Amino acid sequence: MTRPMLFLSALTAFSPLSFAAKPLARAVDPCALVSGQPFVLPADALACWKSFPFNETLRQNVLINNIARVFDFYTFEDYYLDSPPPFQESTANIRAGLARINTTKYETDYDFNIDLYNFITQLNDGHTRWFPNCYGTYQNLLPAPVVSLEIDGLQGVYIIPDLVALVTLLGPLYTSLITIDWQRLAGARVISIEGQDPYSYIDFIAKTVSGNYLDHGVRVNSVFSSYRLSGAAYSQRFGDLAGPTGVAQTSLTFQVIVANSTTIETVTVPYVANYLGATFTDGPSYWANNCVATADTNGVDLKASAGLTSVTPKRRQPKGNIIDKSNSSAVGLPPQFEPTLPTVGGAEGVMKSYILPGNQTGVMFIGSFEGDFNGFQNDTESAIAAFKAADVTRLIIDLSNNGGGFVCLGQFLHQYLGSTKIGYPGFQSTNRANPLARKIVASDIALGVNAELSFYTADNFAFLNGTQMPADYDYMTPDVPIIVNGQVDLNSQRFHDTCEPTFVVPIPDTPPFPLANIAIVGNANCASTCAMFSTLMNEKEHSKMAVFGGKPLEAVQFKGMAGNQVLEWVDIDSEIKTANLQDDPLAPVDLLVNGDFRHNWRTAWSFLDENEPIAYVSELPQFRFPYTLDTYNNPQNLWLFVEKQLFA
Ligand SMILES: *[C@@H]1O[C@H](CO)[C@@H](O)[C@H](O)[C@H]1NC(C)=O
Ligand SMILES: *[C@@H]1O[C@H](CO)[C@@H](O)[C@H](O)[C@H]1NC(C)=O
Ligand SMILES: *[C@@H]1O[C@H](CO)[C@@H](O)[C@H](O)[C@H]1NC(C)=O
Ligand SMILES: *[C@@H]1O[C@H](CO)[C@@H](O)[C@H](O)[C@H]1NC(C)=O
Ligand SMILES: *[C@@H]1O[C@H](CO)[C@@H](O)[C@H](O)[C@H]1NC(C)=O
Ligand SMILES: *[C@@H]1O[C@H](CO)[C@@H](O)[C@H](O)[C@H]1NC(C)=O
Ligand SMILES: *[C@@H]1O[C@H](CO)[C@@H](O)[C@H](O)[C@H]1NC(C)=O
Repeated sequence: MTRPMLFLSALTAFSPLSFAAKPLARAVDPCALVSGQPFVLPADALACWKSFPFNETLRQNVLINNIARVFDFYTFEDYYLDSPPPFQESTANIRAGLARINTTKYETDYDFNIDLYNFITQLNDGHTRWFPNCYGTYQNLLPAPVVSLEIDGLQGVYIIPDLVALVTLLGPLYTSLITIDWQRLAGARVISIEGQDPYSYIDFIAKTVSGNYLDHGVRVNSVFSSYRLSGAAYSQRFGDLAGPTGVAQTSLTFQVIVANSTTIETVTVPYVANYLGATFTDGPSYWANNCVATADTNGVDLKASAGLTSVTPKRRQPKGNIIDKSNSSAVGLPPQFEPTLPTVGGAEGVMKSYILPGNQTGVMFIGSFEGDFNGFQNDTESAIAAFKAADVTRLIIDLSNNGGGFVCLGQFLHQYLGSTKIGYPGFQSTNRANPLARKIVASDIALGVNAELSFYTADNFAFLNGTQMPADYDYMTPDVPIIVNGQVDLNSQRFHDTCEPTFVVPIPDTPPFPLANIAIVGNANCASTCAMFSTLMNEKEHSKMAVFGGKPLEAVQFKGMAGNQVLEWVDIDSEIKTANLQDDPLAPVDLLVNGDFRHNWRTAWSFLDENEPIAYVSELPQFRFPYTLDTYNNPQNLWLFVEKQLFA
């Protein structure tokens, strides 16, 4: 949420008298105790979550009959056996992990799901996540988000100086549950967290909580609080220390030196959990409203649903994006830190553009590649027209916390900045040719299905010479075996994307700015389509790449998850059902619970080394800067700093 949600029902839902009137026939239902309350203590939220006993039928449904089979489509499965440096932390034997979870004894359904959630999260691929809705309804919030700042030439960890302005935005229902004088922690220097050096503890959170990004250094930046655009609004993430998913942690103990003091003191700061799920009154209604599969959980045969409407189905756009559950643990950036310069060009969508004083440098802050597909292209065209009209010659693109989005919008922006001169604006791609995938492609051909209903059919793609493949072309026959960590991995033939026909604004014949005058900046939390775009700008156009933040002396890649196209469970299930293969023994079965196992379905191959997925190529930025008091939550100050540093 960008602004705190208020649940007025919270004021009336719970009256002790109504319980006292009931016979003491059963133990108190822990979910009834927290129902109707937007903010509760994490231990109380956890008691509700842990009130549902472990159920073997659900384990077999989720783990063995669904997730284990979806993993057959996961492009990076074999890479995980031994992730190359510097990504070695993201190493796991996926099949051994699933087998362990299949035989572990669990007390509660929560214990099973959280073990599975943590195992898949720690693959550190935001495209490949298990989100059980039942246990994603609460989020912990600590009134002490942290940042790494350089002050007087020294880097250290601090509680955010804008603490009071930010936390106040959560509203009095939140702050009334915080039992300490949290306001005085604003700007405090952190000496230790849970008895450890603060950067070591942040490394620990990056390793065990954050997920999403293969590179450890990128995850370190997810732990800190940071600014971003959420949709069209400025917001400030709490970061994964202060806003983790889940409610396992009840407090954190810090040693701090508060502002204007020289004394080290110890404070224990409590988390408060925020409820974001569907309304409920007790355990059974919590389960019914949040945990049971809904009409949208599983896929459908799109041939049938297409027939139900008179509207011609339109080809769907492939996506590469992140589901950032911490989205909801961000509130608005306190307004005094938003840019004061006027926006130029279209600025209602996911992109906001500005001209810095002096008219030499334009800024595009691109929060994601989601939203209005054509509107994004229009906004790009009008921002660049405004820059040209003001004689701007240099461009800063801020990709801080860009969560990705439409694959073709990343390629569009690359093409627009590079002009028609660069030719194909993408990279080579493949998907996995496992036996079921091969059956899907063959069945789609036999059924006459095309890209209007399927992401699998060949007309989604082009041959490497740019000619679009015909829908009935079987690009998985013959398959292409590659050896990954000693395993034979069967791939499709290589192909290109077919984005160019979706470009609705004219592509310039020459680059609008010299490509060396483009600086790409951010906190490296740049997911998927954002990673593809920044990699193309680095590998092909040699733009200046700058990363802010991170741990001093620890490397940070400039891009995060560089998979390619993600399929949600509902998407791959629809592919299978549309190909009439739902009864195939290899097909994953419908989930009985409300959840989503998404996976990275396509690999993007690096332009620098076409035998390596972009995801596994180490690409460090040429420029690294610490955040300062002026820049950590103030995008305009950061852009002015970049202008001075990179274009002097
Ligand atoms: C984040 O939340 C906002 C407001 O609820 C929403 O508009 C936006 O699409 C969300 N962004 C992502 C990346 O989930
Ligand atoms: C386990 O879950 C299944 C599927 O939802 C349900 O039919 C069954 O009753 C549950 N078992 C128990 C013991 O609750
Ligand atoms: C998982 O456990 C079930 C029940 O114990 C067993 O039948 C099945 O073979 C196991 N599957 C895997 C993949 O380990
Ligand atoms: C610390 O001192 C400065 C300068 O006197 C003052 O502006 C600031 O408000 C003080 N901060 C706190 C938290 O007391
Ligand atoms: C894009 O711009 C064109 C021409 O100005 C306009 O007709 C169209 O409605 C715009 N589309 C969107 C989605 O903003
Ligand atoms: C910058 O461009 C704007 C709009 O074109 C113009 O009004 C302004 O005078 C220019 N400022 C400078 C310092 O050149
Ligand atoms: C591109 O390659 C395909 C497959 O090899 C071939 O059928 C097609 O004719 C080629 N197109 C052009 C324009 O060369």
